[in-house]
Amino acid sequence: MKITPPPYKIKVVQKIRQIGRAERVERLENAYFNPFFLDADDVYIDLLTDSGTGAMSDEQWSAIMRADESYAGSNSFKRMERAIREVFGFQYIIPTHQGRGAEDVFDRIMIKEGMLVPGNKHFDTTKAHIEDKKGFAVDCTIDEIHNTQSTHPFKGNLDTQKLERVIRENNKNIAYVLITITCNSSGGQPVSLANILHVSKICRKHRVPLFFDAARFAENAYFIKEREKKYHKKNIQYIVHKMMSCVDGCLMSAKKDAIVNMGGFIAVRDKSLYKNLAPIAILKEGFLHYGGMSGRDMEALAIGIREGIDYDYLRYRTWQVKFLAEELQKNRYSGRHSPRWPCRLRGCQKIPASYSP
Ligand SMILES: Cc1ncc(COP(=O)(O)O)c(C=O)c1O
Repeated sequence: MKITPPPYKIKVVQKIRQIGRAERVERLENAYFNPFFLDADDVYIDLLTDSGTGAMSDEQWSAIMRADESYAGSNSFKRMERAIREVFGFQYIIPTHQGRGAEDVFDRIMIKEGMLVPGNKHFDTTKAHIEDKKGFAVDCTIDEIHNTQSTHPFKGNLDTQKLERVIRENNKNIAYVLITITCNSSGGQPVSLANILHVSKICRKHRVPLFFDAARFAENAYFIKEREKKYHKKNIQYIVHKMMSCVDGCLMSAKKDAIVNMGGFIAVRDKSLYKNLAPIAILKEGFLHYGGMSGRDMEALAIGIREGIDYDYLRYRTWQVKFLAEELQKNRYSGRHSPRWPCRLRGCQKIPASYSP
């Protein structure tokens, strides 16, 4: 496979250790084969999540030093607000401590009991927040998403016929439509710009608000550039603006594509929606100029959200995943080496109630 070289040099390293196979088996058994229960020290290649785990750049660390930790009117907030406005194109920004904080604030305003939120495979915290407000998440993802062998380029797409049927049959009872880019609950599958434009048209026709769960907006934009012929020659920023122009706003866990360890926000176009969200945000997350983040976090986010749309970085990042997938395919687990595991697994099905992480 052709190697894509990294577009950066590594200046800081953190020592980790590799434990032997027997120890790994033991640790996994003790964790009931649930990686959430492992000690991080025992993990050499950590694929649990990309959430808050990315290495920050020299620019981000430098910005952290100039952070303004004022409670109100902080310069760090202003810099972050400016960066989000530029990259996303939304005027009103509400900071939150992370993505689920944004979901909680947003759904408290948007959802009344019994309302529906159609979308493409809502992320688990997203679905839980919808249900917490007594709403229902309706999955309208295309069928290809369930076929792991399908090479459909945009398996995160919404089935527009299904979506329109759900909207028509539940007229006046749709809280909003949510497109998750990329579709994390199904392996980070992207959504095409053609599909986003189509969904946007349907929502406008039925006067239903449309929002993004934008945690991986930059990766999604990269896949649009690579896989949708019409956008091959467009840069990532152009594609992001085009995507955002289709929706009324977004919820963002900044821990992914804004490459920070902590943070999130709600970004909307409409001033009256902002005014409704603001008091809840103050109550649940913090004043509107920090929302649960420190000045340091906001400085890092302001830089990370711009660096996250760098084409070379996205190309290298997605290549890494492809490389890993191809290597795994080549070395498929045959079951030869660990005949002990399946039987131990059966014994592990009943996890003691007292065991919690
Ligand atoms: C698509 C998506 N939405 C929302 C969230 C929740 O964000 P957070 O973990 O920052 O609360 C996540 C987290 O992984 C996510 O992947």
